[in-house]
Amino acid sequence: MGLLLLLHVLLVAAAATAPAADAWGKEGHYMVCKIAESFLTKEASTAVKELLPGWAGGELAETCSWADTQRFRYRWSSPLHFADTPGDCEFDYARDCHNTKGEKNMCVVGAINNYTAALKDSSSPFDPTESLMFLAHFVGDVHQPLHCGHTDDLGGNTIVVHWYRRKTNLHHVWDVNVIETAMKDFYGNDQSTMIQAIQQNITEEWADEEKKWEACRSRTKTCADKYAAESAKLACTAYEGVDQDSTLEDDYFFAALPVVQKRIAQGGVRLAAILNRIFGGNSRSGFRAVD
Ligand SMILES: *[C@@H]1O[C@H](CO)[C@@H](O)[C@H](O)[C@H]1NC(C)=O
Ligand SMILES: *[C@@H]1O[C@H](CO)[C@@H](O)[C@H](O)[C@H]1NC(C)=O
Ligand SMILES: [Zn+2]
Repeated sequence: MGLLLLLHVLLVAAAATAPAADAWGKEGHYMVCKIAESFLTKEASTAVKELLPGWAGGELAETCSWADTQRFRYRWSSPLHFADTPGDCEFDYARDCHNTKGEKNMCVVGAINNYTAALKDSSSPFDPTESLMFLAHFVGDVHQPLHCGHTDDLGGNTIVVHWYRRKTNLHHVWDVNVIETAMKDFYGNDQSTMIQAIQQNITEEWADEEKKWEACRSRTKTCADKYAAESAKLACTAYEGVDQDSTLEDDYFFAALPVVQKRIAQGGVRLAAILNRIFGGNSRSGFRAVD
């Protein structure tokens, strides 16, 4: 019994540290959704709250990593977390948005359009609570540059690197390590302090750009293909100078951190814009009420 229990603990620990091709880690997704919540209109905020499962305690952000926990239950959802490219720093929907079997639309951009359409359509057969949780997660994913990384190395998952002294991989650096190091070094390991810092940038430093982040002319789809193209471009820079067994430390960290913070900000603002378009209303609740 003791040995079995130990074995079980070890297996769970191994599974937890195995390089997963998921998304921003828990923190990244939480931050994207927390920022999105503050940009929702009253109507959207009410509609979102009504759709949230009981365990969310009325907080969209609490549900934003749910999709990562469903990859085994819903095997088909696994390719919906990313959209890798051949490595030309561009994203081409027709070329790149498919799963390994070649089924079209089965990538993060197709998924964002899918769940947006499902939430708009009250006769959709899909569970709207799940559609909302998938949508909120995937809008985060599409903003993580390495989720539009190169197919060859599975978006950086097969590139083993050292983050300072710790062994990890390039994908995981962008999902988790940059955020973790920033939290530890600059934000006293406090997530809400980091969120506040990003939000302050949105209202000051990025106030003009923020309007452009939200804009989307398409009436039938979201602009997720544009966000994937931005990520594919940023991914090319993220790969620069990185090889198997590279050690990444301060130089890389200080180049990556502002990119990560801006992508989290854009993810939050755009998730809110998508939800506001779905659920209507134009009076903003939260800290932008004076807009
Ligand atoms: C759309 O959502 C449904 C329900 O979750 C899912 O079965 C289907 O695979 C999704 N398709 C895409 C492209 O996301
Ligand atoms: C705020 O914006 C500046 C300039 O773009 C950037 O260097 C910094 O990393 C940002 N900080 C946060 C917390 O977003
Ligand atoms: Zn994901």
